[in-house]
Amino acid sequence: MGTTQRPKVTQPEPSTALAYLDPRYWDERFSQEEQYEWFKDYSNFRHLIQAHVTSHSSVLELGCGNSQMCEELYKDGVANITCIDLSSVAVAKMENRLISRGFKDIKVLQADMLELPFGDECFDVVIEKGTMDVLFVDSGDPWNPKPETISKVMATLKGVHRVLKSDGIFISITFGQPHFRRPIFNAPDFNWSVEWTTFGETFHYFVYVLKKGRRSSYEDTTVKRFETPPINLLHEELESEDYVFRISVDEIS
Ligand SMILES: C[S@@+](CC[C@H](N)C(=O)[O-])C[C@H]1O[C@@H](n2cnc3c(N)ncnc32)[C@H](O)[C@@H]1O
Repeated sequence: MGTTQRPKVTQPEPSTALAYLDPRYWDERFSQEEQYEWFKDYSNFRHLIQAHVTSHSSVLELGCGNSQMCEELYKDGVANITCIDLSSVAVAKMENRLISRGFKDIKVLQADMLELPFGDECFDVVIEKGTMDVLFVDSGDPWNPKPETISKVMATLKGVHRVLKSDGIFISITFGQPHFRRPIFNAPDFNWSVEWTTFGETFHYFVYVLKKGRRSSYEDTTVKRFETPPINLLHEELESEDYVFRISVDEIS
């Protein structure tokens, strides 16, 4: 379980990271690509997720693409999983893949993370890997992101906060560094606490854990780093496309 997936990437790499904002890019890409794991696969951060999910957790994954994360969560005992993606191609292929592999209980639907089509307080955990980073590829100055970027990010976060149960947890796996994510996660609209840690060796990815109902006051804008046992895995770092995306996001975060 959880071996690093680096299948053949047959789609052309985008000439600029702005393509990641175009839904047609994702449809075209997913029509050619069977599986690709952005950043790292689940085995690399499983130890950071397990503390926050149980077999009773209802989990929503934002922007599943053709990642295996939902399957790995399911294998870890989380049976109630819903995946969304904006790309109809990704959704259709994910549905087929999950059925063919026997994961028929995992629900997949086409939806925009900016307008989550779920009722209030219905998930224990919302998780995303690299999906919100897409919103930042056109943000301009990282210290002063464009209003359009902030507006999209806030729409997403407000939706996540709304669909989380009163003690729910949002897990964000990202390139985005704490000094850029903190002001957004700590906006007064939210009552979650914010903690983060990293994984990866040469390059560190960030895992933010936002616990709803746990912010002590709206003046409390603390972002705590939590320590976790390191895992030693041989990573391929700086792979081509991942690197293109990272550079772009690093420019803004
Ligand atoms: C960088 S990929 C990450 C895919 C997957 N999470 C992974 O770790 O491999 C971004 C994914 O977000 C999806 N996406 C982009 N904008 C979205 C939106 N507004 N709502 C839902 N999904 C979106 C894309 O179709 C793509 O599958």
